[in-house]
Amino acid sequence: MGVTPGHDVVVVGGGIIGLAVAWRAAGAGRDVAVVDPDPGRGATWAAAGMLAPVAEAHFGEESLTALNVAAGRAWPDFARDLEAATGRTVHFRRDGTLLVAGDPSDRTATDRVLAFHQAMGLAAVRLGRSACREAEPLLSPRISGGVDLPDDHQVDNRAVATALLDACRTAGVTMIPDRVTRVGSAGGRVTGVVLAEGGSVGAASVVLAAGSRSGEVGGVPDSCRPPVRPVRGVTLRLRAPDGVPCLRRTVRALVHGRSCYLVPRDDGGLVLGATVEERGDGLEVPLGGVADLVEDARRVVPVLDEYSLLEVSPGLRPGTPDNGPIVGPTDLVGLLVATGHYRNGILLAPVTAAEVVALLDSDDCGTPPGLGPFAAFRPDRFAARGAGS
Ligand code: GLY
Repeated sequence: MGVTPGHDVVVVGGGIIGLAVAWRAAGAGRDVAVVDPDPGRGATWAAAGMLAPVAEAHFGEESLTALNVAAGRAWPDFARDLEAATGRTVHFRRDGTLLVAGDPSDRTATDRVLAFHQAMGLAAVRLGRSACREAEPLLSPRISGGVDLPDDHQVDNRAVATALLDACRTAGVTMIPDRVTRVGSAGGRVTGVVLAEGGSVGAASVVLAAGSRSGEVGGVPDSCRPPVRPVRGVTLRLRAPDGVPCLRRTVRALVHGRSCYLVPRDDGGLVLGATVEERGDGLEVPLGGVADLVEDARRVVPVLDEYSLLEVSPGLRPGTPDNGPIVGPTDLVGLLVATGHYRNGILLAPVTAAEVVALLDSDDCGTPPGLGPFAAFRPDRFAARGAGS
């Protein structure tokens, strides 16, 4: 057991949020370490890579939608920078998304969502069945119409994770293959982190970005412990055999009131997702959820019957009481939180990294740099509402 030499910043968690923070912080001149036994995996690896500020806009979540829209606009630069730094492509695609209604009652629901999108000034256009099938010929003639969402895009999340790992190494980030058990502190400010395998790492600042595990890390005062919970999602990876056609763009569908999405990749792959299961932190894959997903997807895209199933990937989304992320400073000087991104971790990674770097640059991590899109998503909002205690 020893004390690893200190860093300016230790990031707890090497998912897309932690890696993006580490890369951008190192690029801003900081000496950064990331602690994670298996960086780039977890929920980041299981995700589908949708960048969906509009499709993920829900009634009562207007601040989150504003943040998500800002996040969508940040992606082109982030993808360009990451590709330039690594020479890798991350397959950022701007094809838009089609939201499809499986039956007439789903059509009523998509019409309500469309009215909400339009009231918020989001780009969403109602399409009849034929217009949907013209835009996406693989859709079933049994669908009831849909909505074009031209501002919802996608990126290959696994390519992003791989590129971020490369970019971090090149930028001099130290990768520590371990788990953080607690944040160390003295006199009201952080001193570093304690590792599961023994030993500790000194740091002036600690960024808690451990996804659905963020609430379990010791040494975090109750007043700023992020109230995240695991929300399991299972995605399936499929592939179109040679000669079998591929979708042109992401399709989201509502089928008998259940949601699914189909995200085509450049190489003939397709990600089908996802279940939403509040069953603790296990990574089991209940067959019923997968069966529903496959049935709903086949109903809207019948050619899926010819696709091959390659992989079943469970992940744990970090859910929060209001579905919004938790990003900002805490009562413990030097401890920043960047977690709780729930269904929008891939989308929010670039803006979260920018926010954390701005906070690191601000007065001792203690003073938020003014009102920004994260103003409604600070860690102290739950204590103020009594939800975090
Ligand atoms: N972002 C889609 C999901 O969480 O399933």
